[in-house]
This record gives sequence, structure tokens and C-alpha cells, in this order.
Amino acid sequence: MTFDRSIKIAPSILAADFANFGAECAAVEAKGADWIHVDVMDGQFVPNITFGPATCAAIRPHIKGVMDVHLMIAPVDPYIQAFADAGADVLTAHIEAGPHIHRTLQAIRGAGMKAGVALNPGTPAAAVEEVMDMVDLICVMTVNPGFGGQKFIDMTAKIKALRVMIGDRPVHIEIDGGVDPTTAPLVAKAGADVLVAGSAVFRGGSVGDPAPYGENIRNIRAAAEGVWT
Ligand code: DX5
Ligand code: ZN
Repeated sequence: MTFDRSIKIAPSILAADFANFGAECAAVEAKGADWIHVDVMDGQFVPNITFGPATCAAIRPHIKGVMDVHLMIAPVDPYIQAFADAGADVLTAHIEAGPHIHRTLQAIRGAGMKAGVALNPGTPAAAVEEVMDMVDLICVMTVNPGFGGQKFIDMTAKIKALRVMIGDRPVHIEIDGGVDPTTAPLVAKAGADVLVAGSAVFRGGSVGDPAPYGENIRNIRAAAEGVWT
């Protein structure tokens, strides 16, 4: 994984056909996805359950590029090695998931993955100040995590504050929740480079008819890059 701040579109397979993950990942990659975003939920940290490391391992061979795993689970630490073994490139834990984000980020990097930290809408940018040199990605949630298809919550001020805090460090800012061609320019302008989108990518298409995936991805990218300087 090389670092750059170009816009990367990361379809969330939370909005894909759950009976067809392998083909869905291949389809969105063929239609221009940069990363694949994989949402792991435990029914405790968030009020929904998806799947765990075994499913991630099954999906992995169908992804050519970056597998970006977003853990919405607590605790995190007992499962880090399992996600490394499953082939995650980026493993993101929520700062709200426990009292020891410093230890968690150390363990994620120690297991050979890029380390991400996610912030719920109610968590301020300053919460990650002390771990800035331990992360490769900061995920700013623009919905309360748990479900796809929710309304975008404007976190522009937080994104701008994080962008300043990051400075020259090779740290991605990822936005997750309600990203579509209308909201993408706002977050890109504020300093985000990885745009997660579930419903806005998978809407209207299927593995049998993947053309809408390509159009959806192009529309989000064009909207975001329109304001990129
Ligand atoms: C929300 C998940 C998101 C979600 C985004 O808890 O972390 O990745 O799939 O879905 P959309 O793009 O539909 O808001
Ligand atoms: Zn996510």
C-alpha cells in the first residue's frame, strides 16, 4: 500500500448482496472501486450484527486491492490476530470501543496491518491527538454506526481540524456514512481522501447488471474531485 491523498472510493459491502460477496467485490473493483470497505458489527458496540473474520477471509481472494476492515465491535484486542490472518490491509477500531486505544493501535500495527481509528459523530477531533503518530487512517463517522442508508451528519469542522492536526504525516482521512455525489464535495474540500459509500455505490445495480456501480462510482469521484485542489 503506497500513500497518497488522491480521492479513493471505498464501496461498503454492507449494501451488497450478502449471498454474493465475492462476486460483488470483484464487480465494484472492475467498475472502478479503489478500496473495499468491510463492516464488522457485533450487536453490542452497535445495534446490528454482520459477520466476523471467517467471512473476511472468504472475501479476501476476491479482492485485488485494499481490504479495509471497519470494526464496530468491543472489545477489539482479542480479535486483531484473526483479522490479520483473514488478510485485512487496514484494520480500524473505534476510539469509543474501550479504554486502551493506544494499546489496540500498537497491536494492529504489530500484527502487520495499517492501523485506523474511527470517531463517532459525538467524539471530538482532539480525542485522537495523542495517537496521531500511531495511525495510518482516521475514520470520521458521518452517521451513527450500525446501519447503511442513513442521513449524512455534517462533520466538516472536525475533518478540517483533523487535517490540520495530521500535517505532513502519511495519514488518510476516511469518511463513512451518507456519502453520495452531494455530500462528497463537502468532505473532500475539508480534507478527506477515502470516501466510503454503501447505498450510493450499490444502488440500481447487481452482479448481473454491474453497469450502475460504475456510473455511481464515477459520479461520486467526479463530485469529490471537482473541489479537489
Ligand atoms: C455504518 C457503516 C458504513 C455504511 C455506510 O455503520 O460503517 O460503512 O455501510 O453506508 P451508507 O453509504 O449507505 O451510509
Ligand atoms: Zn464502515
